[in-house]
Amino acid sequence: MIMDGRPILFLDSGVGGIPYCRHFHQHNGGEGIIYLADRANFPYGKRSREDLIHILRSLIEKLIPPFDPKIIVVACNTATVSTISALRSFFPDLPFVGTVPAVKPAVTESKTGRVVVLGTARTIEDPYIAELAAQYGPHCTLHGIAAPELVEFIEYRYAGADEGEKRKVVLSYLEKFRAAGVDAVVLGCTHFLFLLDEFRREAAPDINIYDSVEGITRRIESLLDKDDSRLRGGNGLRHAAGSAGASPSADRANRFLVTGGTPTGGTPEPSWKFWADYLGFSLSSFGDQT
Ligand code: DGL
Repeated sequence: MIMDGRPILFLDSGVGGIPYCRHFHQHNGGEGIIYLADRANFPYGKRSREDLIHILRSLIEKLIPPFDPKIIVVACNTATVSTISALRSFFPDLPFVGTVPAVKPAVTESKTGRVVVLGTARTIEDPYIAELAAQYGPHCTLHGIAAPELVEFIEYRYAGADEGEKRKVVLSYLEKFRAAGVDAVVLGCTHFLFLLDEFRREAAPDINIYDSVEGITRRIESLLDKDDSRLRGGNGLRHAAGSAGASPSADRANRFLVTGGTPTGGTPEPSWKFWADYLGFSLSSFGDQT
């Protein structure tokens, strides 16, 4: 069997893809990973589809020569609903894994028929979300709620926030949803996954919280294990079969990249060190995306 040592690339506008990357890494420690936080273009949620297609395409074009990724995980709901079809046609030889809000299980299981997708403005206005709801939950009314302030809380303040602060933020949303008779909430922005435990704890027992973290890990694993002759070597893309739990020194070969640098030029700002250490990856800045 041919082993494919190329890395898997996770992309987000900032820290939002980290819960996905971490979950995958914990179960597949033998796979090399590049995580890219495109902070130069944060937040994605306020951008147009055209803008995002341009940003993601040029970013991937710059990442391919140095890293040669074998799979690209678009660990951002906004970028996925806006760009993934275009990216698949620009890069037909690269397998992409997208993160789509978990609308299907939420509308299927909702009893009250009132479902919330909490996301960015770009995600909730995308027709794809309404189409999913109409297809799988015609009895449901889907309320798309944009929460840019929650994205900013996670991006800038979560790392230093205490439990009380996190709980307060979560409760401020749930109180409104509860009052409106909502029984299903889809966390439709990857940033919000950092608050998954808090949302689940405070939402029980009357509101169910939906996310897609495990589904994405399974999707990547199925691509790695697929015996597809179109893929290099015809033996799937695994580097090391069944390789959970790499050593810390192997982890350091994994990279945490940040675009944008700082006004002092090129050096990532201090909070990035916190996040790189959280994953156990080595930190560097990437490119000159402004
Ligand atoms: N993490 C991104 C998502 O899943 C969005 C955050 C942003 O607005 O940049 O939608």
